[in-house]
Amino acid sequence: MLDIGSAAYDACMTPLELGALASVRARLLSEAAGRVLEVGAGTGVNLSYYDFSKIEELIVSDLRVRPRLTDAVAAASRRVAVVQADAESLPFAEGVFDTVVATLVFCSVRDPLRGLAELGRVLRPEGRLIFVEHVVSRHPVVHRLMNLVNPGWRLLAGGCNINRDTARLIEGAGFRFLRFARFGHGLGIAGVARKG
Ligand SMILES: C[S@@+](CC[C@H](N)C(=O)[O-])C[C@H]1O[C@@H](n2cnc3c(N)ncnc32)[C@H](O)[C@@H]1O
Repeated sequence: MLDIGSAAYDACMTPLELGALASVRARLLSEAAGRVLEVGAGTGVNLSYYDFSKIEELIVSDLRVRPRLTDAVAAASRRVAVVQADAESLPFAEGVFDTVVATLVFCSVRDPLRGLAELGRVLRPEGRLIFVEHVVSRHPVVHRLMNLVNPGWRLLAGGCNINRDTARLIEGAGFRFLRFARFGHGLGIAGVARKG
């Protein structure tokens, strides 16, 4: 099925992927292991980065499951389940996943603290959150500019916010960073966190 929005999203992302993003994804996603849940999977770009020899079960989910995601799953020729799910209210029991993955998702989740707490709920106690997010600049002038631009950006970019401090939100939701790195002139964060 023709899915113009998703094709446009992938096209817009290409320069960023060719920059740091693809290598950040490759490094982190190959660590996903056991029972894995990906939230906000979008067009399924992460599927090519998983090391399936470490994965017992992979569920990819999104608030809106697009044809491009189901096509990507079919092309992956692995057993991957696709589930329509809101990260703020996941249809899974507590503590059932070893790894939860969220890449470029918490810029657009309506209540990010609630969503992150929900990820913590479905992770087992020693489970890992793998994250990659774009965040607000730490430079005060750029930060103010991003605040100014954000309302218009959010309208144009389907609910994406450019002024979130998602590192602080991850910690605020009760996660502890095991690894944390900034990339893309400080506008990207990536790493691994665990509960508590
Ligand atoms: C910018 S795209 C990122 C897609 C992909 N994860 C990536 O790395 O390119 C954000 C995705 O988050 C999804 N999303 C937004 N709010 C969500 C929510 N509350 N629960 C689940 N997915 C959500 C959107 O539908 C969209 O597919």
